[in-house]
Amino acid sequence: MQRNRELTGYSETEIQGRPIDQMIKLFSEQEEILPKTYCRGSFNKPVKVVGKEGKQTKVNLMTTQAEGTVQTNLSCILILHDLSKEEELEQMKLDFVSMASHELKTPLTNIIGYLSVFIEENRPKLTKEQAELLDRSLVSARQLQALVENLLSVNKIEREQMAVSVEQVDLNAVLDKAVEDLQNQAKLKNIILNYTKDATLPKVMADPLRLAEVINNLVANAISYTGAGGRVSVYSNSAPNEIVTTVEDTGVGIPAEAIPHLFNKFFRVSNTLQKGSKGTGLGLYISKSIIQKLNGRIWVESEPGKGSKFHFSLPIVQEATLNSNRFVSEAIQTGALNY
Ligand SMILES: Nc1ncnc2c1ncn2[C@@H]1O[C@H](COP(=O)(O)OP(=O)(O)OP(=O)(O)O)[C@@H](O)[C@H]1O
Ligand SMILES: [Mg+2]
Repeated sequence: MQRNRELTGYSETEIQGRPIDQMIKLFSEQEEILPKTYCRGSFNKPVKVVGKEGKQTKVNLMTTQAEGTVQTNLSCILILHDLSKEEELEQMKLDFVSMASHELKTPLTNIIGYLSVFIEENRPKLTKEQAELLDRSLVSARQLQALVENLLSVNKIEREQMAVSVEQVDLNAVLDKAVEDLQNQAKLKNIILNYTKDATLPKVMADPLRLAEVINNLVANAISYTGAGGRVSVYSNSAPNEIVTTVEDTGVGIPAEAIPHLFNKFFRVSNTLQKGSKGTGLGLYISKSIIQKLNGRIWVESEPGKGSKFHFSLPIVQEATLNSNRFVSEAIQTGALNY
């Protein structure tokens, strides 16, 4: 009963004989769940309990209908497992990862900076072997930097602190730039990377920097998991309320059993690992979190040995938003509104 007091704030005597929904409220992702939901059949998931005087605790809620009471609707059994210790540990883990990543960031930026300048200024004087060793050091330092950036992004996602600033975005311009940035990487692997521009595309609501991060992740993956001589194509199509962008490759493809796990943190397909590719399994997890924050969807179609198509959708700017912006800018021009 002590545990009960810790969880809900109520003592045993306060609770006895009173209907549960008058004592505590349960919330799943901000939405209240009622006894008619959690007492029908079995329920097993993390929820927030709001008890006496608004006391809040994270618990795992398991319910089952008490035997013989289905017809009479008499009672159901609730098991609340306190998750606050786990939450505390999770918080400590997040704090540690965040602190360690931030501490690594500055020295790494310095290493990359000094190394780049040194290589650039001394290349003519270096032997072939020395130049190769320094180039490899730079590649490794950049990989480490990408990992640190990914860990910081994951940390922000898990703390629900990933900020997105949504504005009207010209998708063509963002795609063009992101594809251009990866042309070199594609050329090094002898992969044809092309982007089909559609000048008629309406603008989308998105955060241009975060959107570029997603496209970069998807195109970098398409290049990594496609062999020499392959092709990567990027294109967009308009649907009634959204634009769907596709990154298509002719690469190794993804086995059907891996697809449900693909957007999970640290997930990598084992056959790709066997081919010696480097990666941390965070790119798709981060991309999915960003697209969801932008009110879009992300999904994949793939056939092992033939290639993959990664699609994501983004909401288009509605006519009402365009009209209201037009009204404001016309009003400013005519002097009706002073800014
Ligand atoms: N275009 C693709 N073709 C085949 N497999 C892919 C493709 N894109 C992703 N995958 C598989 O999905 C896994 C997860 O991709 P994700 O981008 O999240 O991580 P990663 O590329 O391994 O590492 P990083 O965090 O550096 O991006 C990859 O390891 C790979 O097995
Ligand atoms: Mg990746």
